[in-house]
Amino acid sequence: MAFHTQVLKVDPLEIKFPSNEPLPVIDESTDTFQNLQTAVNYLKSTDSPVAFPTETVYGLGASSLNSNACLNIYKAKNRPADNPLILHISSIDQLKRILHADLLPVYQPLISQFWPGPLTIILPVPTKQDNVISDICTHGQSTFAVRMPAHPVARALIAMADLPLAAPSANASTRPSPTRAAHVHLDLDGKIPLILDGGSCQVGLESTVVDGTTNPPRLLRPGGISLEQIKNAGGQLWKDVVVGPANIANNSQEKVVPRTPGMKYKHYSPTCPVYLYLDTKDGVSAVKDTVSEKLKKVAVLTTREFDTDGIRQTLVESGAQEIIVKSLGITGSSISHNLFDMLREMDEVLHCDLILVEGVDSKDEGLAIMNRLCKAASRIYVYKPDTKQLVQEK
Ligand code: TXA
Ligand code: MG
Repeated sequence: MAFHTQVLKVDPLEIKFPSNEPLPVIDESTDTFQNLQTAVNYLKSTDSPVAFPTETVYGLGASSLNSNACLNIYKAKNRPADNPLILHISSIDQLKRILHADLLPVYQPLISQFWPGPLTIILPVPTKQDNVISDICTHGQSTFAVRMPAHPVARALIAMADLPLAAPSANASTRPSPTRAAHVHLDLDGKIPLILDGGSCQVGLESTVVDGTTNPPRLLRPGGISLEQIKNAGGQLWKDVVVGPANIANNSQEKVVPRTPGMKYKHYSPTCPVYLYLDTKDGVSAVKDTVSEKLKKVAVLTTREFDTDGIRQTLVESGAQEIIVKSLGITGSSISHNLFDMLREMDEVLHCDLILVEGVDSKDEGLAIMNRLCKAASRIYVYKPDTKQLVQEK
């Protein structure tokens, strides 16, 4: 079905959540309230998903109890059917009352610190027969992923609809996740009826996914909460947390289900090539050695050490006609916040032929940043100090 996609503004500052109250307080005469109500109507009385801001990235949400609506999420994004969706709740009460799910004790220290916020946990699918989570949403797995977003618009929407919303990132499959309503519009115009525009997303990368149903517990996807934060908050229960999905034995008798199916797909990719540089210091000789073609428009996204004048000079000498240099930021949080936004700007707005990106080390926010950058990159160059050589690793 083709839609005329409406983009409606909502102001997060007009939404208040008094502590321990299930519903937000919003002046009913505001556009924010009216537009949230419009979104609620779509969620409750149609099978069409709507896009909304969260603190991580924009999500494309529909009731996790409605299989047709969940199918329409996959259709709009062109998402592979075997990649399950994250459920979003506005309160622990919803998890218990609507889904009949229990929180496992292993998560207690984490959710008491990080909910509402960018942390997704894996729980066993409840066995109770009413209000079942759609199989489309879980891909029939025995576990489901759930988080409580901190963004006032996301929380208000879920609370007002009183529905746990299945919501993947609101990008077309394989593209970088959207951190602004304009990104969603570019990817999904005509495919969904409504985008709530609540401004740019603060975190800029998706939530961290942790699995405490296994021993040892696992960090399945690095994201808005760092591994260090998980270990600090999690105490004894999380001190041995393992990074990455488990290797499931490839036994031909068994159906092999990757633990975080989403991580196996091509992801986060601009349409133009992206070269990622690691440990290349000021980057000048690394860029000189790796960019030789005459390019029309090259973007350079820097973090901490790149010598912008030196790289600009090198690119001029190699014949580049136009060079755009931008800083992603110095701190982990600013680099996270800007990463998808700047990749999209260089690709979709400025139509660069090549994007060069300076990587960061993998501690704190760096783990999630490098996870996304390695997937976005068409080539990865790493400088090896022991052999003094630049090695292409992808
Ligand atoms: O920040 C976020 O998490 C955003 C916003 C919208 O909340 N959502 C998001 O959803 O990133 P999505 O669909 O793009 O990523 C969901 C990830 C995938 O890697 C998927 O494989 C994994 O969660 N996942 C979902 N259910 C799972 C399960 N039962 N076990 C393991 N991984 C699961
Ligand atoms: Mg996604």
